[in-house]
Formats: sequence, structure tokens, C-alpha cells
Amino acid sequence: MSFDGNADPVHIKVVADTDADLLTAEALAKRLRLPIDNSIANGAVDDGNWRLLVSAAQRTLIRPDGARMSIDFTQGKAALRQAQPSKNQSLVRALGLHKLNQAQRQATHVVDATAGLGQDGWIIACQGCKTTMLEESPLVAAMLQHAIEHAMGEPALASIANKVEVINTRSQEYFLHCQCAADIIYLDPMFPAKKKQAKVKKGMQFLQALLPESNNTQLLQHALNAATSRVVVKRPAGAAVIAGSENWHGQLTTVETDATRFDIYHTASLQR
Ligand SMILES: C[S@@+](CC[C@H](N)C(=O)[O-])C[C@H]1O[C@@H](n2cnc3c(N)ncnc32)[C@H](O)[C@@H]1O
Repeated sequence: MSFDGNADPVHIKVVADTDADLLTAEALAKRLRLPIDNSIANGAVDDGNWRLLVSAAQRTLIRPDGARMSIDFTQGKAALRQAQPSKNQSLVRALGLHKLNQAQRQATHVVDATAGLGQDGWIIACQGCKTTMLEESPLVAAMLQHAIEHAMGEPALASIANKVEVINTRSQEYFLHCQCAADIIYLDPMFPAKKKQAKVKKGMQFLQALLPESNNTQLLQHALNAATSRVVVKRPAGAAVIAGSENWHGQLTTVETDATRFDIYHTASLQR
């Protein structure tokens, strides 16, 4: 990695892009318990530190090396997802959504329990499902929430964005305490950064620098207890199943692409 090590969230300062963004930046800094940088960025932040830049359209993380990362469902591939045939999308096939008609999809509740940058969660919402995105990092959850609200303002995307709820929580807590039934639970957990990072996308490099590894065994167990239809886990191709899977006695199938494998735990196959 070309930037200076991992970020301790307390070393990220919030900075407003323009005078008009200052109040929002201050409120966000207070909510996230991060310090505020009182200078106004005017688009340029190059002081060699981590920053969270607040503008009307976006929340942008800036690394010490100047690289930027933001979430925007109104641009690029995300904005075009709706038009993509579902059978061509491996995630959609792994979730079993390609077999459902529109009315069945609308009646399906999918919980993305490791929402991160919401790229996968957005694909799910584009299928017409009620989509709950759970994210334990307050910073990432705030970026995601803002991106969903921004998409609500785009007429072509509002109906998708309105299907999404972002909740800042540890998913284990959500599954223990929330009475909301989940048909499908999707997990794309964090794994340790590999030495060779060439193939890791920029967004994931930011998450690896910011976030701790998670207890995936415990998360999987909670998900298996909560999902009425299936739990789908995204893994790199060739990687082992999540530790703890050896205790799973229900049906387990996979959907594979060159780089990714989805492990599908069919919870509906269990006698509860
Ligand atoms: C690999 S990223 C997910 C990327 C996501 N699938 C996407 O498309 O952008 C994993 C995310 O899950 C979050 N996470 C990990 N364990 C979690 C847990 N137990 N509860 C909630 N969020 C969790 C991490 O904070 C991180 O943002």
C-alpha cells in the first residue's frame, strides 16, 4: 500500500468543503466523536492527514497520500444496475432472487449484515427487495446513509433508495434484539489484508486501513439462527469456508465466479 499505515478513527478530522457545509460538518463531527478541522477545504485537502470532507453531495474520505473515497449510487455502474439482467449477476443468483417474480422480490426482506460501502447491498435493493444494511462502523454507516439519501433525490433511483434502511449496529446485536424477520442474510466479512494488495479495490483498501477484523464465526452463527430462507457468505475463490461452518448440518451449495465464491447455507432446509 502506498499510504501511511492504518487509520485510527480518532485521527480523522472532519472538514467542510465550503462555508455552507460548516454546520453539517460540525454536527457530523459531534455525532461521530471526531475532531473538526475549522479550515474550509474549497475542494483541496492536502495536509498529509486523514480527513472526512463534507460537501452537499458527498462525504469523502481522504487518505494521507491524497487518495479519495466516497460512496455514490447516482454515478457509474451503481446507477445502471437496475437495467442489468438478474441472471447475469452472481450475487443475485446466490441469493436466489433470479427465481422470484417482481411481487415475490418485493415481499422479500434481505439483511446485508456487513454493509460496508453498500455496493452489494445496492445490487440487492435494485432487485426490488426490502434491504436492511447493517454497518458497525459509525463513520462508514454515516457515509452510506448520506449516499442513500443522496440517491433518494434522483427521480430514477428514488424508488430503489426508499427500499433501503441503513442501521449503525453490530449485526450480532441486531439479530439478538430485533424482531424483524429476515428471509435472506448476506455476509461479506472483513478478512486480514493480504501482503499482495494489487487486486484489492480502492474502497476495500480504505476499509482495511480503517476497520478491525471481525469475528466471522460468531456472526455466521447469529445469521444462521435468524434467516428463514438462506444465509449467503461471499468468499474469495479458493478460500476456506468460515470457521464454524463444520457445525452446519443443513444444505450448503455454492455459486462461483473466477474471483469469488458465494457459500449458501439453506436455513429453510432445517427442522427448527
Ligand atoms: C468487506 S466490507 C463489506 C463490503 C460490502 N459488501 C460492499 O459491497 O461494499 C465488510 C464491512 O462489514 C462491516 N462489519 C464487519 N463485521 C460486522 C458486524 N458484526 N456487524 C456489522 N458490520 C460489520 C465492516 O465494518 C465493513 O464495513
